[in-house]
Amino acid sequence: MNERIRNKELCKKVVSAEQAAGLIKDGMLVGTSGFTPSGYPKAVPLALAGRVRKTGKKVNIGLLTGASVGKELDEALTKAGIVVRRYPYQTDRAVREGINSGKIAYADIHLSHFPQQVRYGFFGKLDLAIVEAAAITEEGNIIPTTSVGASPTFVSEAEGVIIEINTSQPLELEGMHDIYHPQDPPYRKPIPLVKPDDRIGTPYIPVNPEKIKAIVLTDIKDDVRPFAPIDDISRQMADHLIDFLKKEVSEGRLPKNLLPLQSGVGSVANAVLAGLLDSPFENLSFYSEVIQDSVFDLIDNGKIKIASGTSVTPSPQGLVRFYENLKEYKKKIILRPQEISNHPEIIRRLGSIAINTAIEVDIYGNVNSTNIIGSKIMNGIGGSGDFARNAYISIFTTPSVAKNGNISCIVPMVSHVDHTEHDVHVIVTEQGVADLRGLSPRERAKVIIENCAHPDYKPLLKDYYQRAVRGKGHTPHIIGEALSWHKRFLEKGTMK
Ligand code: COA
Repeated sequence: MNERIRNKELCKKVVSAEQAAGLIKDGMLVGTSGFTPSGYPKAVPLALAGRVRKTGKKVNIGLLTGASVGKELDEALTKAGIVVRRYPYQTDRAVREGINSGKIAYADIHLSHFPQQVRYGFFGKLDLAIVEAAAITEEGNIIPTTSVGASPTFVSEAEGVIIEINTSQPLELEGMHDIYHPQDPPYRKPIPLVKPDDRIGTPYIPVNPEKIKAIVLTDIKDDVRPFAPIDDISRQMADHLIDFLKKEVSEGRLPKNLLPLQSGVGSVANAVLAGLLDSPFENLSFYSEVIQDSVFDLIDNGKIKIASGTSVTPSPQGLVRFYENLKEYKKKIILRPQEISNHPEIIRRLGSIAINTAIEVDIYGNVNSTNIIGSKIMNGIGGSGDFARNAYISIFTTPSVAKNGNISCIVPMVSHVDHTEHDVHVIVTEQGVADLRGLSPRERAKVIIENCAHPDYKPLLKDYYQRAVRGKGHTPHIIGEALSWHKRFLEKGTMK
């Protein structure tokens, strides 16, 4: 244990998870580590949920995390009725139900904005930070585990800090992190990161040891989730995307080894990246948010020289592989605070190629990434907006249809807008690529319908556009019809 808690004084603060959970009181605002189901506290939230279930005594908290977290935190606390407010991103079924039924107040926030907004005091006083660590240094600083997320800000802002030392997380993670704290306006300076492999901070999260209220030991593993198997649709999207990138290189708009890549979350994003394995591109670099299994493949095949992100987000098999080859991956992977991995200044400077996933796209290039049929939250905007707005090229991928073909993902007007037409340069479906750069809305509509829509929906979309264009306008629409387009999906009984 001396290796894990290297500060003797702090060893005295080791308590049980139940004792630490006792520090969490009704009405508190609590910020935790965790980004995707990686590096989040597990023992303390489970103990809190257990206490509430046993005693029936109400504890309601606002829960702040880096992004989504695993079942021991989001699901356990939500099912025990503890979470009443949630920021800035989630992927949990129970939380989703709580949000969509109005029981949980959720604000979906750009992930690069979130930590600074916590520091600016936009959410009020932060009572507690609960942070998973691989170790505590002699000076009392925190070595994070498989994610960094918003932990540096939570630790600096919270009145008290609980640390969960997780012995299932290898000590060799030490050295993988680069923690940089930007100053806040009016004192902010340029962030001195000019290449994806630059290290500009410390390998630990600094903490005032006096703020550490409790340390808990646990060995509960990250609740990482499997990816859907790579299917033909994803493979076709990957092929189109790679052809597009090859063309950009041949026409001199991208260098041979491309520019730093960013790729979104989920199975589609994982599959699309897997397509790079068989591509001619070499010496690639990643400046992204999450590092999924496909990035390990690219590293193993010598395709990537550096992958920078804020969390490692593998499948269960991917996690085993990550731990087994940690020594090698540590040479190629850097984990940073989400504020830095997603920072607009850096994304613009590096010239990122942003590849994110849409739920639906409209004929003018607006993208919905969050709300099903305009009202039910799926996950959240995550970092997609940070990258799309500031990228060198902003690409969105989506299958042309969802729910076994019952829903078209190309629609006249998106039912909710996350990324406006101004932030969307290229759309890729399994049908093809719509390169929207420099096109007017009327030109975009033609190319999106022609190249990206599914043949089953193409005639309907063409008919809509042709009638809309008769009414003139810069962005021709038949508003009433556009707004009722999704009714056909509801009427089919596809969506409840
Ligand atoms: N209408 C209704 N439902 C749709 C739909 C549409 N047009 N398109 C997709 N869906 C449903 C799918 O059927 C699936 O539902 P299920 O969970 O009930 O099976 C669900 O949405 C997820 O779609 P899937 O095809 O499995 O894609 P995914 O796992 O790749 O996730 C997003 C896609 C958009 C939900 C996901 O990428 C996301 O949350 N993005 C926003 C955040 C982000 O981009 N972060 C990255 C920044 S680094």
